[in-house]
Amino acid sequence: MARKEDISASVIRRLPRYYRFLGELLDRGQLRISSADLAAQMSLTASQIRQDLNCFGGFGQPGSGYNIPELHREIGHILGLDCRRRAVLIGAGNLGRAIAIHMNFPQYGMELRGIFDSDKSKTGLTVSGMKIMPVSLLEEFVRREKPETAILCIPKEGAEECAELLIRCGVMAFWNFSHCDLTAKHKGIIAENVHLGDSLMLLSYGLTNSDREF
Ligand code: NAI
Repeated sequence: MARKEDISASVIRRLPRYYRFLGELLDRGQLRISSADLAAQMSLTASQIRQDLNCFGGFGQPGSGYNIPELHREIGHILGLDCRRRAVLIGAGNLGRAIAIHMNFPQYGMELRGIFDSDKSKTGLTVSGMKIMPVSLLEEFVRREKPETAILCIPKEGAEECAELLIRCGVMAFWNFSHCDLTAKHKGIIAENVHLGDSLMLLSYGLTNSDREF
């Protein structure tokens, strides 16, 4: 088992894919898989999977492969999905509403406790069973409810100020869609910056560099 600080970011970035893939196998009722099969189905090598999982203590038994429910549970535990961490969402526009409605937060170890927006015409409307609250109540709410995570779905312009308030009130993790860099200024926070455009640029790169004729 590697020390936490020695586990590379790329190994950690592969864990959600293992978790998702094993979950799909479980849904189909499969209980065991050999490392060779798992590797082939995930387009990885068996040695890469072994190396990745060995960082966390290894889970396979030589000759009998992986116990899927156990491995799925262990990876979920490593990812912290068996927690119930409080989250708050800021910005109930198109993106914020889609996230509130479509993300199954408990599945990711989170509980969405509040949704806030600065637009008076949106406050009081219900999204995903929750009333959108005015951003003027955000500070009081965060001090009372103590969410660890904030989901930022507001334009870049207001994001820095909003993040500062949240950090001052104890929020330490951001699922940040707001195209602003929070970690440069706020050392010690955890931020997962999502840029869907980056993914689209990679698709574009793939097309641009493909040998196929279209
Ligand atoms: P939208 O205009 O539908 O929603 C933005 C919402 O934020 C509005 O309801 C507005 O009233 C609210 N808002 C603005 N400033 C606020 C503040 N300081 N405090 C609380 N609420 C505030 O926009 P949409 O489509 O939902 O996108 C939201 C943001 O996410 C945009 O800035 C957009 O650029 C960004 N975005 C990022 C993506 C990514 O991959 N990271 C993908 C799509 C959008």
